[in-house]
Amino acid sequence: MDTHNQIKAILWVGIVFYLFMLIKSQASEPSLNITFITDAAAKGALCLDGSPGAYYFAPGFDDGVDNWIVFLPGGGWCNTVADCLNRTKTPIGSTVNAGARELTLPFLRPNKTINPDFYNWNKVLILYCDGASFMADIDVVDLETKLYFRGRRIFTSAIEELKATKGMANAANALLAGDSAGGLATMLNCDRFRSFLPNACRVKCYTDSGFFIQAKNLPEVITTFYFTSIVTFHELAEYLPKSCTQRLSAGLCFFPENVVADIQTPLFILNSDFDSYQIANLIYPNHPGEKGWKYCTSKFSKLENCTTNQLQLIMDFGTTFLKTLEGLDDNPSRGLFSSSCYRHSFIYYPQLWQGTTIFQNKTIQQAIGDWYFERSSVKLIDTEHSSPISCI
Ligand SMILES: *[C@@H]1O[C@H](CO)[C@@H](O)[C@H](O)[C@H]1NC(C)=O
Ligand SMILES: *[C@@H]1O[C@H](CO)[C@@H](O)[C@H](O)[C@H]1NC(C)=O
Ligand SMILES: *[C@@H]1O[C@H](CO)[C@@H](O)[C@H](O)[C@H]1NC(C)=O
Ligand SMILES: *[C@@H]1O[C@H](CO)[C@@H](O)[C@H](O)[C@H]1NC(C)=O
Ligand SMILES: *[C@@H]1O[C@H](CO)[C@@H](O)[C@H](O)[C@H]1NC(C)=O
Repeated sequence: MDTHNQIKAILWVGIVFYLFMLIKSQASEPSLNITFITDAAAKGALCLDGSPGAYYFAPGFDDGVDNWIVFLPGGGWCNTVADCLNRTKTPIGSTVNAGARELTLPFLRPNKTINPDFYNWNKVLILYCDGASFMADIDVVDLETKLYFRGRRIFTSAIEELKATKGMANAANALLAGDSAGGLATMLNCDRFRSFLPNACRVKCYTDSGFFIQAKNLPEVITTFYFTSIVTFHELAEYLPKSCTQRLSAGLCFFPENVVADIQTPLFILNSDFDSYQIANLIYPNHPGEKGWKYCTSKFSKLENCTTNQLQLIMDFGTTFLKTLEGLDDNPSRGLFSSSCYRHSFIYYPQLWQGTTIFQNKTIQQAIGDWYFERSSVKLIDTEHSSPISCI
């Protein structure tokens, strides 16, 4: 596979995954109307295709009225004009076809049994439609392609609007959370989110499956090439942390391992040691085994059809992942939960969120509550399993 095809494959895996999640998330809570950002065009808060940035909002209730969760969904990235144009025909490049929606992620549910710590908080889901993890802000719009690269403005405008019209300016507790490309967005926007909120507010950030690693010791890794191309194409250099860009090239500052030490706001990192999306798309697209990764990274990430060679590659990745985590500073405000489940994304699945199978005796749901409310320190790094396990 040449690089161009690899990148196309990454794009489409991202989209298919996102659409799958979107369909999966149709369940039983009341539908929320979409809110388009007011005067989005004047503010420049526009999706790739120029449609307005948008979000869903469910008001908090009882003693949760001053508490806020803002969720950033995933969906990969685009790094060429053709890729980004393709994206404009999908829900991750445009809000043209976005309608009412339910927030069915377990930790966005208003049900106290399912979501004891956050059930009555205000909940916001900002649609991901910019292709660069809510980071780009290019003023000029190319007359030919008519593509807009403005994710950063969508994030800013949504937060400003929630402060001005929905009471977020009085927030007492707030949690920015995200999954996959949205998990990366969460880390990169975490301190900025903090800066929008009152000083007295307890603000924290939580990333699910957004800890993409460089893994430069592994053979023929494309991650650095790919991330660098995203950073270059979307002109992200000036928005990445200066503490990183002063010492490393901008492309490397899209990697959490190079920026987390400088994130001031408390951060919880949840990730698989054997992230199936990273492995198949960002690390080893050149080493798919004779059957390809498809059979070894099915939707439900079953391991039964992986070849011996693939299992070895997965384990090599796991070793590298744990080494990368080890190298992080030991910030006491940080929460960590690394799991041996062979998969990507936990947050969408009640079985994983609340299942007892994940790690030691703590479910993810308990771990995040304990960390957020400082009931206990949470550093759960699964170094017990050198092999991946199937969890769903
Ligand atoms: C959602 O929009 C529909 C159609 O505009 C409207 O009838 C309904 O009252 C709205 N629901 C809420 C909760 O705002
Ligand atoms: C864009 O989509 C078309 C049709 O779905 C596909 O044939 C093409 O390869 C895609 N281009 C890129 C750059 O992904
Ligand atoms: C809350 O979730 C529990 C467990 O799934 C369920 O039994 C209960 O009916 C739900 N409550 C409401 C009000 O939906
Ligand atoms: C594994 O392969 C068998 C035989 O090809 C197939 O029937 C089964 O569905 C596959 N399992 C998964 C999880 O992909
Ligand atoms: C998990 O709970 C069981 C039973 O309560 C206990 O025996 C065990 O030590 C606990 N394990 C951990 C890692 O906390």
